Formats: sequence, structure tokens, C-alpha cells
Amino acid sequence: MTSVLVTGANGQLGRSIRDIVVNYPGLHFTFKDKSQLNIANANEVEKAFRSSIFDYCINCAAYTNVEQAETNPELAYKINAEGVKNLALACKENRVVLVHISTDYVFDGYKNEPYNVADQPNPINEYGRSKLKGETIIQETLKNFYIVRTSWLYHKNHGKNFYKRIIEKAKAGESLRVTDAQKGCPTNASNLAVYVLNLIVQNNIAYGVLHFTDNEAMTWFDFAKKIIRNEGLHCKVEVLDSKKRFGVARRPSNSVLE
Ligand SMILES: NC(=O)c1ccc[n+]([C@@H]2O[C@H](COP(=O)([O-])OP(=O)(O)OC[C@H]3O[C@@H](n4cnc5c(N)ncnc54)[C@H](OP(=O)(O)O)[C@@H]3O)[C@@H](O)[C@H]2O)c1
Repeated sequence: MTSVLVTGANGQLGRSIRDIVVNYPGLHFTFKDKSQLNIANANEVEKAFRSSIFDYCINCAAYTNVEQAETNPELAYKINAEGVKNLALACKENRVVLVHISTDYVFDGYKNEPYNVADQPNPINEYGRSKLKGETIIQETLKNFYIVRTSWLYHKNHGKNFYKRIIEKAKAGESLRVTDAQKGCPTNASNLAVYVLNLIVQNNIAYGVLHFTDNEAMTWFDFAKKIIRNEGLHCKVEVLDSKKRFGVARRPSNSVLE
């Protein structure tokens, strides 16, 4: 039996992994949400790794609020860099393979084509910088790791995300104005969950940085229209005037991952 610790188990990805555990009878899972294991607390992390023997740790824990990271970068770093360091050190000490999830926002968005794993990261917001710091710490600490970069995660039932917000607004009869200034690949958290667990059961993929997203690249405006169509809703979607930018965080105009 392969033993797998899942941190941040109540987030979109953590819950999507829980949904499919029955399909992986060869894996034994220990799920820890933030109240059970705060990755930013080194003592808690050490204790968790001493309490059981794990073969893999899937880190679904993260500070994911891109806007608030601009005003509270310390907290973003505390979780996305220091918390990740705590996990990486515990994985090294206990010979555990770390499967860490990172983001398309490590890139600046100036490339006109999809980003591949060899492209140089250059984040343009605090969230992206904190996530890149986490990646760097893992690469400096561990040999046996997967860093899986993904993008625009959503789930119809779990977490707070664009998909659910669009449905709520459409059902409330609100008119929708959505930006077309960024392009990326919306990714269903369920598909990422399958990818991550298959990485573990296949056990034949070389360690390092990987990219995983769903296939279709689009703007947020395109995505909003697709959600309305998929859900059989009727609601006008208009392009948001590019001068009327919401929020303070800069976002890459192209973050499609190859
Ligand atoms: N969401 C996206 O669009 C997106 C895009 C690209 C990459 N990613 C990456 O994909 C991964 C999964 O994202 P997600 O959408 O599933 O995120 P999510 O829904 O925000 O889940 C993150 C989970 O981590 C928990 N958490 C926060 N601080 C923690 C701490 N100190 N210790 C333990 N748990 C903590 C959160 O709990 P609370 O909610 O209680 O704080 C939440 O349950 C993350 O690494 C994220 O950076 C996400």
C-alpha cells in the first residue's frame, strides 16, 4: 500500500482528490485540512510526518487570493514559501516524495505562445512571486519532487471560483461584464486530481517541473460565455472595458501552459 498525505484537503483540489479515492485502492490517504495541519507551522508539520510513514505528500495547501496577496504579501509568503519549506524539509528528512501544485502566474505573460517548462518564470504579482519562491525552495531542498503547474482552476461544487461566481450572477439576473485581456486554460480541478494521482500510481514519470491544464485556451470573457452555454442559462455577457480594471493585482495577459 502506498501511503499519501494530502495537505490543504478542504480546498478545490483537495476535495476533488477526496471525490475519487475509491478509484485508487492501492493508495492509502491521510487528508489534513488547515485546522488539522497548518503547513506554516514547522512544529505541526514535523509532528504530522512523525505520526505516520508516508510515501508521498500532495500539497494542496496554498494562499490563493491573488488580490489580497498584493496588500498582504507577508501572509502569502508565510504559506506559499515558508509553509512549502516546512513540507520540503519534512519530506527530505522522511524520504517522502513531494507533489506540489504551482501556478501559471509564475510567468509574466509576454510570450505569444504557450509557456513550456523550460521557460524562465518572471511573476508580475505577489501571489506569483510567493509561489515561485515555493518552487525554488523545493528545487533547492529535494531531488524527489513533482512541481505541477496548473491554471485557472475551477469546480462546479467545490470552493470559490470563477465558474460558480458566473452561475450565481447569471441566476441573480445580473448583467455580466468580463475581461478579455487575459488568455489561459481553465482547468477542472477533477481532471487535475486524476492527473496527480496517476502520477503516483504510474510511478514512472521523471521528477521535476510539469505542466497540466485542460486543453482549451480562452479569455475570461470566452470562459464566461461557455459557462452560461454549458449551464443552459440565458444571460448577456459583454466585454469589460479594458480601462475599467477590477482589483490591484497585475495578471499575465497570456498564461497558457504547454
Ligand atoms: N485556484 C486557481 O485558479 C489556481 C490556479 C493555478 C494554480 N493553483 C494552485 O493549485 C493549488 C490548489 O488550489 P485550489 O484552487 O484548490 O486552492 P483553494 O481552493 O484556495 O485551497 C487551498 C486550501 O489551502 C488551505 N490553506 C491555506 N493556508 C493553509 C495553511 N497554512 N496550512 C494548511 N492549509 C492551508 C485553504 O484553507 P482556507 O480556505 O481555510 O484558508 C484551502 O482549503 C494551489 O497550490 C494553488 O496555488 C490554483
